[in-house]
Amino acid sequence: MEDIRIRFYSKTGNTKKVAQYIGDALNLEALPISDDDISSPCVLLILGGAPYANIMSSKLREYANKIESQNVEAIALFTTSNWSRRTVRALKKIFKEKNIKVYDKYLYVHMLRVNKAKNKSYKFAKDILEKYKKSN
Ligand SMILES: Cc1cc2nc3c(=O)[nH]c(=O)nc-3n(C[C@H](O)[C@H](O)[C@H](O)COP(=O)(O)O)c2cc1C
Repeated sequence: MEDIRIRFYSKTGNTKKVAQYIGDALNLEALPISDDDISSPCVLLILGGAPYANIMSSKLREYANKIESQNVEAIALFTTSNWSRRTVRALKKIFKEKNIKVYDKYLYVHMLRVNKAKNKSYKFAKDILEKYKKSN
């Protein structure tokens, strides 16, 4: 398959769990963000994070800032939190400013519903893959 990447930043495991559901749905490994593959091209990056005291972690922001438009065709976002969707909004802003295509549709899972979010995450993963395929 073309290179589809699932990456996440997770301090307490919630976002990681959702990333793993998405990975299971697409038969891909979900990995924590790292600089290792940041400059190798991928067609679709599925990226997740969470807010801590209202903002995403600086590590996730730095990672997002390093992504270059020539290395990624499209990005889909997911987030877990207590109430805020700010992480997704802030990431969208970063990528839009770089002229990277970001899907409007994103996955939100409340932090207390992570264990019950398998089906929702599967559906999101399949929908995003479908969207990506349709646009190519
Ligand atoms: C220190 C701390 C601060 C948090 N601040 C917020 C917040 O401002 N807004 C919110 O909606 N959730 C907040 N949360 C909840 C987390 O975003 C939520 O638990 C999320 O699922 C954590 O993701 P992770 O387990 O992948 O690290 C906070 C959690 C922690 C531990």
